Amino acid sequence: MFQKDLLHNKRILITGGGTGLGKAAAQRFLELGAEVYICGRRHDVLLATERELHNLTGGRIHPRPCDVRDAPAVEEMIDTIWKDGPLDILMNNAAGNFLARTEELSLRAFETVIGIVLLGTLHTTMACGKRWLAAKHRAVVLNITTTYTTTGSAYVVPSAVSKAGVQALTRSLAVEWGNRGIRMNAIAPGPIPTEGAFSRLLPRSEFEDLAKQRIPLGRFGTTEEFANLAAFLVSDASAYINGDVITMDGGEWLQGAGEFTTLGRMLKEEEWQQMKPKKGPSK
Ligand code: COA
Repeated sequence: MFQKDLLHNKRILITGGGTGLGKAAAQRFLELGAEVYICGRRHDVLLATERELHNLTGGRIHPRPCDVRDAPAVEEMIDTIWKDGPLDILMNNAAGNFLARTEELSLRAFETVIGIVLLGTLHTTMACGKRWLAAKHRAVVLNITTTYTTTGSAYVVPSAVSKAGVQALTRSLAVEWGNRGIRMNAIAPGPIPTEGAFSRLLPRSEFEDLAKQRIPLGRFGTTEEFANLAAFLVSDASAYINGDVITMDGGEWLQGAGEFTTLGRMLKEEEWQQMKPKKGPSK
């Protein structure tokens, strides 16, 4: 659906780029001509992804081991990348999440998720943003949030508060930095099968069918669909979209929020018929 050189000459960093959605985006960006840096905590995973995606696409991909929670380590990584030339695009994708009853969580559990999701996004965004603004370099940031940033969600509270913060950061900086050439948007994906998310958030396989019933389109999203949206949002094709959060969930959160959604699905045919206005003689 895109011209093959859509991201030609674009230098992109994807946090959490070794697996899941980050890896899918990396592949798509490489196919579209970008030079891609992937960072993550596990060097072996990054190396395997580098090899696999280079063989698949022939593109230039560089692994950079880095824990985004560690601000000095992020600064050092960005500094090293900048020695090859400035980045044009930052995709904040690294995440941490697990299901738990909030009252049983330790403070460190909160700090861990907030550290990866909110502070991690802040560390990379600040490190790149300062350099872009100083050099008047045009750039794009794409953050990955979730559909429960506005509603919150039970049992994933550290993630909910962190992702809500990322959404606020996205909208705030889109305004503050927009007139200096930096665009910032977010994707809020619904369920997309990846090992990292599904192993933590769908504890039993039979929950998959229940989860699909929550989605009007009746299926999960795919990593390819996600990667295509990401490619559009980081490319110049979306140059006038700034400060937005694009929901990509098959209508899931709207179905959950709608007052009569469940009722509508439970009503029997005869009940629908009974609710129709009675046809009597016209007055
Ligand atoms: N329930 C409750 N607490 C949990 C938990 C769970 N399922 N998993 C971790 N924690 C707590 C730990 O007990 C620890 O707190 P404590 O020291 O007070 O006991 C704290 O969180 C840190 O856990 P630890 O395993 O040391 O952190 P880590 O840095 O190795 O791992 C995680 C980070 C916990 C986010 C891990 O799940 C991870 O690496 N996730 C990455 C991928 C991911 O989450 N993807 C989801 C995308 S949707």
